[in-house]
Amino acid sequence: MPLHVLDHPLASHLITHLRDKSTKPATFRTLAHQLSMLLAIEATGDLEIEDKPIETPLERTTGQVLVRQPLVIVPILRAGLGMVQPFTDLFPDVSVGYIGLERDHQTARARSYYCKLPPLPGRHVFIVDPMLATGGSAVQALDVVKSHGATDTRLICIVSAPEGVAEVEKHHPGTVIHTAALDRGLDDRKYILPGLGDFGDRLYGT
Ligand code: PRP
Ligand code: URA
Repeated sequence: MPLHVLDHPLASHLITHLRDKSTKPATFRTLAHQLSMLLAIEATGDLEIEDKPIETPLERTTGQVLVRQPLVIVPILRAGLGMVQPFTDLFPDVSVGYIGLERDHQTARARSYYCKLPPLPGRHVFIVDPMLATGGSAVQALDVVKSHGATDTRLICIVSAPEGVAEVEKHHPGTVIHTAALDRGLDDRKYILPGLGDFGDRLYGT
């Protein structure tokens, strides 16, 4: 299973404060940003590089630079918006697409309400959504980007449930998932346990 769980003391520190129900929205946004930065670095660890000869103030040497390669980040609205800026800070040429999905509070099934995507064929596509619970939203988002021609897709989450990971693997086998935490499971309302509650509500103070 191509599941990568962040293994870094700073990630553990940040996620513990993110989970804490006494954490206020302003701090929550900062923590989400910092965790997303770690995830963005981890998830782009296999980008191609090429040699580049340069001169330091002391001598000639050969370094490596990133090959120009089109990256696309696709946040699932609305909570995914809290994970975008680290990608745009690290990769200023990244294109950003948007998929709007909202879970029905009774059924936990996601309803699509918005989609705006740049060209996807031949690009590395990173879908970002902080919570992978039942996996319904992630599977729908993967369906959408693939129907728009994406062939290289990765999913970046902050907290994942085993049920969501299994659902993604069932419908989109081989999809690489990067997550900061793999939690125990879901409660009867399909919230992640121990989780952190409703990410979007905590991010935006709603
Ligand atoms: C949350 C979260 C994911 C989804 C995960 O969004 O950001 O998109 O739930 O649940 P799933 O794996 O069971 O589909 P929500 O629908 O609450 O919308 P929001 O981002 O607007 O708060
Ligand atoms: N969406 C959230 O924001 N939190 C959960 O625990 C599950 C879905």
